[in-house]
Amino acid sequence: MTKTTLLAASLAAALSAAAPAVHADTLKMECNVSGPWKPFCEHVKSRFEAETGHKLEFIEMPAASDEKLSLYQQIFAAKDPNAVDVLFIDVIWVGLLDKHLLDITDKVKDLEPAFFPTNWNNNVVNGRVKAVPGQVDAGMLYYRKDLLEKYREAPPKTWEDLARIAATIQEAEREGGNRNFWGFVFQGKAYEGLSCDVLEWIASYNGGTVVDPDGNISVNNPKAAKALDTAASWVGTIAPKGVMGYQEEESRAVFQNGDALFMRNWPYAYLLTQDDSSPVKGKVGVAPVPKGGPDGQHAATLGGWQWGVSAYSKNPDAAVKLVRILAEADTQKQAFLMLGIPPARIESYEDPEVQAKAPYLAQFRDVFANAVPRPSTPTRSQFPKVSKAMFNAGYDVLSGRATGAQAVADLEGKLKRIKGRDWK
Ligand code: GLC
Repeated sequence: MTKTTLLAASLAAALSAAAPAVHADTLKMECNVSGPWKPFCEHVKSRFEAETGHKLEFIEMPAASDEKLSLYQQIFAAKDPNAVDVLFIDVIWVGLLDKHLLDITDKVKDLEPAFFPTNWNNNVVNGRVKAVPGQVDAGMLYYRKDLLEKYREAPPKTWEDLARIAATIQEAEREGGNRNFWGFVFQGKAYEGLSCDVLEWIASYNGGTVVDPDGNISVNNPKAAKALDTAASWVGTIAPKGVMGYQEEESRAVFQNGDALFMRNWPYAYLLTQDDSSPVKGKVGVAPVPKGGPDGQHAATLGGWQWGVSAYSKNPDAAVKLVRILAEADTQKQAFLMLGIPPARIESYEDPEVQAKAPYLAQFRDVFANAVPRPSTPTRSQFPKVSKAMFNAGYDVLSGRATGAQAVADLEGKLKRIKGRDWK
């Protein structure tokens, strides 16, 4: 062998080790690479490309879950094989998108014991696995530890405590010169996130889950009405009117800037508030979402995201490889360290690096396990309409257009019309 052929042979060997695929394909994965997800998207890309020899490109999606769903429904209606291969699916959509998702049962079923059973089972439709859990989620209350200490208050157990503490500290902080200070921020915009907050308020007052697990419409009750009236009483008093335009990130911006005492949000916000650049680094505590009065309960809405494969993908084998990378303990740990999103792998909660970064996570394992699901299973393919009716009802009360009692009666009527003879 001449020197050049030797070089060519070893080059070819090196290339084939790095690129085992016979035909390099380009896959498309949902990942918002132009925002804070950039390091994670790039981490996954470099692993996937090195291990498979395929290329990975990203498609970006809107932040609001309901807007993202509409886009996917358009994409899937066109059955376009080039639009997306691997997508991130909200916990409430798996049943809805079922026929557009590849059946990956035989390719991933060995992974089942690694995940929380509720999360895994959520993704099994008619006995077939349609996606693998990528992130678990549940609502929680963030508070400013330093300010509660300064004013000798404990984290609130009920919404009534929260309102009282928020009003006192807001007034004192404003008098002290912090003119833009507010007691509480949450998600008040008319979108999927408000449905999550509405469910927490109603369930926390023992007012049910809007539609019960058997499909009965249960929302028209005095406890649900009280829950909505209570939330409306915060707007313009302890919460800025602008909260009615807030999604998760707008709430976080205000809280992280040091301009709010309490925030309702998902766990992802914690690590971001602890970034070196954050004005509230080291000053943030977390607690369960408050109860509705002393007889109420701590209710956290169940959220979470799943990795699935489009049924129209031209590269199902490579897409499954990507999903398996996304399902790995190390990938989910990286997602947590880079983005703050709680892993769906059980073992991650024992990981010392994860525990050191977010001591609250261990305490939240129970909150995740007992979180309250939105009524997406009983209302089947009608859930997007149900949720829209829920967030519109919440928005009507927050904006003062309806009382709690009017809104729950009106919501019951709308849900009856959507249901017809039965949910389908
Ligand atoms: C979080 C949850 C998701 C929910 C969304 C609402 O991303 O994980 O389930 O639908 O917030 O904004």
